[in-house]
Formats: sequence, structure tokens, C-alpha cells
Amino acid sequence: MAWSKPMPAQPVVAVAGATGAVGAEMLAVLEQRGFPAKEVRALASARSAGTRLRFRGEEVEVAELTESSLEGVDIALFSAGASVSKQFRDAVTASGAVMIDNSSAFRVEPDVPLVVPEVNAEAAFTHSGVIANPNCSTIQMVVALAPLERLARIKRVVVATYQAASGAGQAAMQELYDQTKDFLEGRPIVPQRFAHRIAFNCIPHIDVFLEDGSTKEEWKMVVETRKIMGRPDLAVAATCVRVPVLRCHSEAVAVEFESPVDPADARAALKQAPGVTVLDDPQGNEYPMPAALEGTDDVYVGRIRRDESVPHGLQMWVVADQLRKGAALNAVQIAELLVAR
Ligand code: HSE
Repeated sequence: MAWSKPMPAQPVVAVAGATGAVGAEMLAVLEQRGFPAKEVRALASARSAGTRLRFRGEEVEVAELTESSLEGVDIALFSAGASVSKQFRDAVTASGAVMIDNSSAFRVEPDVPLVVPEVNAEAAFTHSGVIANPNCSTIQMVVALAPLERLARIKRVVVATYQAASGAGQAAMQELYDQTKDFLEGRPIVPQRFAHRIAFNCIPHIDVFLEDGSTKEEWKMVVETRKIMGRPDLAVAATCVRVPVLRCHSEAVAVEFESPVDPADARAALKQAPGVTVLDDPQGNEYPMPAALEGTDDVYVGRIRRDESVPHGLQMWVVADQLRKGAALNAVQIAELLVAR
């Protein structure tokens, strides 16, 4: 079912989850990109309501997210967790607003488009009131895969992720700070947001475990990549690991194609691709790294080289600020598509 309500040129925008790591970044991205909003409402749980934030040079008070707080809204950017998105979905769509949802609540529903503007922008226009923002680790990988798929059909992708603490939220990022200090000062460590100590450690466990021994984060990378790229047959194997990095997810990606792809052609295609910056000069020690890319918008690709272990393979290293392109920026880009149309 196509959505019939036209989008005003200057929509009223709500950010639900405005005090969280992604919600705060959504407000920042709306402001930095000069999004043509008539009004922006910062909404959050009752616990965070009343918090004061700076937006477009003014102080804004966060209001409680309720059905009435959504009245008159045209675009509702949700990043308050899957249960909150499920709770408010009907209220948002019944009022004629479009929900752009950063949670995993609706991503695999057939009539909910899962959109990365650089890859499948057209899908945004077939929604029935809800558009899903993909998982952060999936977004940055598909932005790098899409230009390669145009060179030759991809057969299989094997990815290992190195995911920043902030992917688990602001409190998790704080836990990394606090644990690092506690560890260095010899104090006992009690993990709260992660299953184990995150300071000076790597944890191959993001989201819950599934019956087949994989994690839900790994499953998301498989099913979401297939849906966004329109390739239900694509073989994808993922191992997702939390690392003691504050911001920016990194990924080691091995891509097997059905026909030959020269690394130089891949590099050229990635250089031309929207939303991609190639940093790939091994002789000059140049490659993407999280510490250098916090707060950036592009997906950064380096270490592009042949994978000799398969007939037609390439390997690459992909880094992006997952709070920006992996979440807030991607959501705002989807909103921009709706306004432009
Ligand atoms: N699932 C990701 C993470 C957050 O835990 O890093 C992306 O939305």
C-alpha cells in the first residue's frame, strides 16, 4: 500500500529518544544539515523529560513521549528501543506521520522498507507509514558493498566486526571510560552493560545468542544486507565483536565475486561512490581508524586487496562513525528523501 499523505516542504519533526546517544546525534545532524523543519520536538521517557538541550542556538526542553506529544508531527525519528517503537507505531501512522525507526522492531517486515539512501533510496517511497533504519554495522558494510556489486555480482561476504562501546548506548560508552580508569587504578570491575569487562578486552557477543550459536547482531547483518541489496540469495557470514573503542565501528570484509574484479577497479569504484571515502595508502601508513574518524559522515574504506584464497576475491577494511552514518545521519538522509520528493 502506498502512502498517500504528501510530505510538507517544511515538516514538523519529532525525535523520540532525544536524550540517548543516537537521539542526541539526530538533533545534531538535523541542525548541521539545515534540515528544513518547521519545528523539531525533542521527546523522551518520563524519566528524561525536562532535560534541557541546545538546538539551533536555543534551549529546548525535552517533553515526555506520549501519543499527544506526536500530534501534528509529519516525520517521527524514533531511537528509543524496539518496545517503544512498537508501542507508538499505530499512534504515529494513524496521525499520518511517517515513522523512521532506528530500532530492530520492524526491519524484516515485508512492507517496511529498510533504507540506506546510497544503496536503495527508491525503497523509501514504498512505505506504509514506517521506514526502518538498518543496524549500524549493516549500514556501513552495504555502503561499501553496493559500488562493488555494480562491478561484478557478489557471491559471498565474510565479515568480522570491531564494534565501539557507544553502539550499546551512552551508558555503555561511560562504562568503557569508568572501567578503564578502575582497571588502571586497581579497583574491582563489575560489568553492567556488557557480559564481561570491556576495558582492555574484546567480547564476541553483541545482542542475544540465537539457537544456532550466532548472535542476533550477526543475524541482523545477514538478513538486513540481503534485504537492502535486494539479494535474498547472497551468502553472508558475520562475527560481531565489541571492542574497547568509544565511537566508530570497524569491519574486516572479505567479498567473493562471481567474476574477476581487479583491486584497482574496486578502489576506483569506491572513490566514485556517494558517501564513501577511500583511505588506502599502505606505504604511507594510511588506512581508516576509529580514533581518527569520530564525528565524520562518510564510510571510510582502505586495505583494499586481492583475496587469493578464492577464485575472485577482495578484502577491505571499512570504518564509519556508527552514531552518524550508522544511525542518526542515515535516518535524517531518509527524511531528506521524503521531503525532496
Ligand atoms: N547493534 C549495534 C551495536 C548498534 O550494538 O553496536 C547499532 O544500532
